Amino acid sequence: MTVSEPRSIIIDTDPGQDDAVALMLAMASPELNILGITTVAGNVPLPLTTLNARKICELAGHPEMPVYAGADAPLSRKLVTAENVHGRTGLDGPDLPKPTMPLQSQHAVDFIVDSIMANAPGEVTLCALGPLTNLALALQKQPLIAERIREIVLMGGGLFEGGNVTPAAEFNIYVDPEAAKIVFQCGAPITVMPLDVTHKALTSRVRVEAFRALATPVGRATAELLDFFERYDEAKYGSDGGPLHDPNVIAWLLEPEIYGGRQINVEIETASELTRGMTVADWWRVSDRPANCFYVRDLDDQRFFDLLLERLATLRPAR
Ligand code: RIB
Ligand code: CA
Repeated sequence: MTVSEPRSIIIDTDPGQDDAVALMLAMASPELNILGITTVAGNVPLPLTTLNARKICELAGHPEMPVYAGADAPLSRKLVTAENVHGRTGLDGPDLPKPTMPLQSQHAVDFIVDSIMANAPGEVTLCALGPLTNLALALQKQPLIAERIREIVLMGGGLFEGGNVTPAAEFNIYVDPEAAKIVFQCGAPITVMPLDVTHKALTSRVRVEAFRALATPVGRATAELLDFFERYDEAKYGSDGGPLHDPNVIAWLLEPEIYGGRQINVEIETASELTRGMTVADWWRVSDRPANCFYVRDLDDQRFFDLLLERLATLRPAR
């Protein structure tokens, strides 16, 4: 059996409890070669997302992981954060130690551009778990990266599920709609994990307790992250558990067969204040706008959680 080369990825993130689980899934997966983690302002301000990314790397036993700080605000709008969902720290739930691993001095946007230009075309995949500010800045700084990116896999948007921060918009797109517009128009292959699929990836008491039952620091911390994270959506939707958004970006790279969707056109609303950040997804192909992304709507949620549990069970902190 030929073992294929690990897939080179950069994860752009605004941790965030669900980002944290996505980062740990990636660090637990030998199929992936994480070139670096770049942080962006989103769920909480940049200093906190950057601190949280390093807390998670150390929890997962990867203090050597290069972490780069990026944009502290959207391209042209005031930052909107989500402490009401993620807590004041952005990583409420477990009490994780202050990290000792260093932060890289290079800016995240320069790291993204340099990594893509230094690798062969079609080599680097960008995984976006937060607002798309860093990716848009990288595309503006060096437009040539668009034709060299293997794939952009992003969590964002929604159609059938509407929005989660306004009736029309999902948080990651809402925070920086101008950045999202740049990304969706860049021409690189894009796979979208919108609320339409992440709302089918629901934690439940049984699923959260399965992480706790691992009886490892990662298992316990994951259960505590999810205990905190799911309370907001349980209250909002009256559901048993809440949607686990960002790990779907990583799971797509590991087991794409558990997902279903179609190639469609998605445009981003940037002019209207009422529908700012709406992903106008032409699922029924009623427009003549060309398809620009693979829009995911379905998943095998049990396989998703089984994969998460299998992989996170292998992680141990470095110290
Ligand atoms: O709307 C969900 C998205 O917004 C997730 O990425 C979550 O972490 C927040 O960033
Ligand atoms: Ca996120």
